[in-house]
Amino acid sequence: MTIGIRALHPLFVGEVEGLDLRRPLGIDEIAAIHEAMDRHAVLVFRDQRLDDEAQLAFTRQLGPIVAATGGLIARPGEGRLGIDIADLSNLDEQDRIMAADDRRRLYNLGNRLWHSDRSFCVVPAKYSALSGRRIPGSGGDTEFADMRAAHDALDAAMRATIADLVCEHSLMYSRAILGFTDYTAEERSTFAPVRHRLVRTNPRTGRKSLFLSAHAGAIVGWSLPEARDLLRELTEHATRREFVHAHRWRQDDLVIWDNRQTMHRVRRFDDTRTVRDVRRTTTLDDGPTVEQGGGVPARVARG
Ligand SMILES: [Fe+2]
Repeated sequence: MTIGIRALHPLFVGEVEGLDLRRPLGIDEIAAIHEAMDRHAVLVFRDQRLDDEAQLAFTRQLGPIVAATGGLIARPGEGRLGIDIADLSNLDEQDRIMAADDRRRLYNLGNRLWHSDRSFCVVPAKYSALSGRRIPGSGGDTEFADMRAAHDALDAAMRATIADLVCEHSLMYSRAILGFTDYTAEERSTFAPVRHRLVRTNPRTGRKSLFLSAHAGAIVGWSLPEARDLLRELTEHATRREFVHAHRWRQDDLVIWDNRQTMHRVRRFDDTRTVRDVRRTTTLDDGPTVEQGGGVPARVARG
């Protein structure tokens, strides 16, 4: 079975036409979505009037979902939404726009850095599905970077240098970039770094990709300055404009992306005055990217 897909970028990102995600998908339709994700890494579905239940039902058809309990900024049950949906809006529990100095807002600013969802977990995210419920008139685009194309464009010497490197990822690394450093002892232990390969291979296609993220802050066996220098160089390379697609949201868009093959970030908008209500469901990757124990369990925190 094939599904209708219109390419939105020369390298990746497709718009899927003719599917209503509110109804159960057939086995062949699900297989077609996985194949399309392997190829395009980001898929856009327009005019999908999903409520939370329908979004969860759709996502569960693509793999085991992972809870979105808030860790640092909201305890399970305290937020607006159920624990299986990450609330990436700028709204508090009473549906009011968060104040400029709200700790949760400051923490969420980390989503404006290029990252891969849940790379701070031993088993990171596979797919993220983001539903646009209320969209601001301007700003708040989500940008995606094709990490396969970024890998392919490296020269042979760099590919050899990084082929077997293992990075350490932690929420504390990404939040520290924005100066967010006041953690409790418990949070410090919860957010202990986990290890991931820097170069990953898609098990279905064999294509390699760079597994970068703002959460990556160290390389095993390297000094910190050398590691940060390399990670910054690779991130600058991977987010050159030719590898990037900006998604301009419309209400009722549903966008899914493969965190193994892409990075993303949200762009600035007038977030203390206009509402942006977007909600994420997330599927779990197949397992750790390197052999390891401990670290952040699968069921903690958004990212
Ligand atoms: Fe994200």
